[in-house]
Amino acid sequence: MFQRFRRTRLNTHLRSLVRETSVSTNDFIYPLFVRLGKGIKSEVASMPGVFQMSIDEILKECIELKKLGLYSIILFGIPDVKDSIGSDSLCEHGIIASAIRAIKKEHPEMFVVTDLCFCEYTDHGHCGIIDEETVNNDATLEISGQQAIIHAKAGVDMIAPSGMMDGIIETLREALDGAGYENLPIMAYSTKFASGYYGPFRDVAESTPSFGDRASYQMDPANRREAISESISDELQGADILMVKPVLAYLDIVREIKDNTSLPMAVYNVSGEYAMLKLAGAQDLIDYDRVVMETMISFKRAGADIIISYHAKEVAKMLQKQL
Ligand code: PBG
Ligand code: ZN
Repeated sequence: MFQRFRRTRLNTHLRSLVRETSVSTNDFIYPLFVRLGKGIKSEVASMPGVFQMSIDEILKECIELKKLGLYSIILFGIPDVKDSIGSDSLCEHGIIASAIRAIKKEHPEMFVVTDLCFCEYTDHGHCGIIDEETVNNDATLEISGQQAIIHAKAGVDMIAPSGMMDGIIETLREALDGAGYENLPIMAYSTKFASGYYGPFRDVAESTPSFGDRASYQMDPANRREAISESISDELQGADILMVKPVLAYLDIVREIKDNTSLPMAVYNVSGEYAMLKLAGAQDLIDYDRVVMETMISFKRAGADIIISYHAKEVAKMLQKQL
């Protein structure tokens, strides 16, 4: 006796009744790149559809996002002046603090997440304080708490440390609790690989390291067991949400962490993953919308609760069309 699997595939309504996974606008966090100035909205060559924007343009963008049912954003700052310790990120009038304040004032219902790192603010482009040839973990921890407090004071809703420093979650949790922000959640970039897929992002964020690479702090793509330990360690330090990044080449890791934690899980669908589909679509090599949706489904199926993606607006439009 064989089973007739095709029976439940014959009708569109039956197919939707038995569908195991779905994608909704509630799943998404949309990345935004903010820089100083007025009226600036410049498209990034390596990421069609992604822009560096000044704060006034970001405020307009929020109106569009709300219309699409997208309320969560993650902010990346591009300061005019960079130095060895990323001072702009430690200053109340820095680009990120100013952006958070402006957004929360005009759009209080937006959920504002910040990427907490130093690479966008340092002249050498590394994710922390340099000591000889590499990033000094503990010296970077010391100034990370300060950056978190700057974001918190400006009114951020959630902080997402992305530098892959050991002990960062414990450090930030203590700093936030000590300053009265015990209810501010931390979404850890808990398992982040040293990946070639970040190439286009470094163009937008102008954060390519001036020497060396990030292999001494980001993870080796070859390591599965270590990937699980990294995320579980962040859970034990007090993270509220875990993350795997990039996602497409790491869906096995997403599933395995999901099976080892009860915390919500995010995935970061990174710049290179976006660029690949964008360019293949522009060349008519694939049915773009269909492939994007199939890709989003794969994240949910692998165990993601939250998807950080440059495709979020396109997906929201596709979902509106389906209704
Ligand atoms: C900063 C950071 C990076 C990304 C998010 N936060 C770049 C990096 O680690 O080099 C990558 C995002 C993307 O590629 O879309 N640490
Ligand atoms: Zn960084």
